[in-house]
Amino acid sequence: MRPSVMRSAAQLLRRRNYSSASGQQARKVAILGAAGGIGQPLSLLMKLNPLVSSLSLYDIAATPGVAADVSHINSPALVKGFMADDQLAEALDGADLVIIPAGVPRKPGMTRDDLFNINAGIVKNLCTAIAKYCPNALVNMISNPVNSTVPIAAEVFKKAGTYDEKRLFGVTTLDVVRARTFYAGKANVDVNTVDVPVVGGHAGITILPLFSQDFHGEIMPSKEIKFLWSDNVHLLE
Ligand SMILES: NC(=O)c1ccc[n+]([C@@H]2O[C@H](COP(=O)([O-])OP(=O)(O)OC[C@H]3O[C@@H](n4cnc5c(N)ncnc54)[C@H](O)[C@@H]3O)[C@@H](O)[C@H]2O)c1
Repeated sequence: MRPSVMRSAAQLLRRRNYSSASGQQARKVAILGAAGGIGQPLSLLMKLNPLVSSLSLYDIAATPGVAADVSHINSPALVKGFMADDQLAEALDGADLVIIPAGVPRKPGMTRDDLFNINAGIVKNLCTAIAKYCPNALVNMISNPVNSTVPIAAEVFKKAGTYDEKRLFGVTTLDVVRARTFYAGKANVDVNTVDVPVVGGHAGITILPLFSQDFHGEIMPSKEIKFLWSDNVHLLE
């Protein structure tokens, strides 16, 4: 997620009385696609988050087991698992934040765009339900291709009359952490001291890491930056 987007999300959360100090406000988070490779560790992170009081884990398969495991973590959030279409309404009801990693991931040789046909339909259906059951929720889109799934979500919400550009986010944190890690490795500097902003989208050449903005940029010739990019571009498509 871009720093500016994170700032505006933080402002929205504050406006909704989200505060780490209060710890009292009921805050419901729903994860759609919770049993998958992204969904499971994400569910664990949300369960560990002291700001979350209720955690809905929804998937078309395997959620009872995942929800049982996650619920055993000794943190305050109450965890419930929901499976299949007929439980989606209850999973979403009153959610303040919905995070969507539902869909299929890339297989070797696929680009994020290859996922469009399958994931577009999944995202459309899930967003239609969000507009109905938790129209004021913040929505974080992880399902790829993010460059397309976010506009699909926007169109669904517009049609339902619930669209608010300040409440819909494409999750691109992966690009930021990769840019920092690759850059630190190449520049041979402590990754904790690196700050590479990333702008643009979340596929191939639309991902634009601004290496020049890191203060270490001074010690890395542009030739090296070119290699850094071409070495890793296959990960970004
Ligand atoms: N934005 C990012 O930075 C980023 C990073 C990694 C992965 N992704 C994307 O996240 C998505 C998930 O990746 P993954 O590795 O977890 O895949 P996965 O196959 O391991 O998990 C996907 C989950 O979605 C579920 N699912 C499918 N259809 C559903 C529906 N209609 N409703 C609810 N759940 C449904 C599946 O049952 C599965 O549990 C992919 O599209 C992937 O490309 C995005």
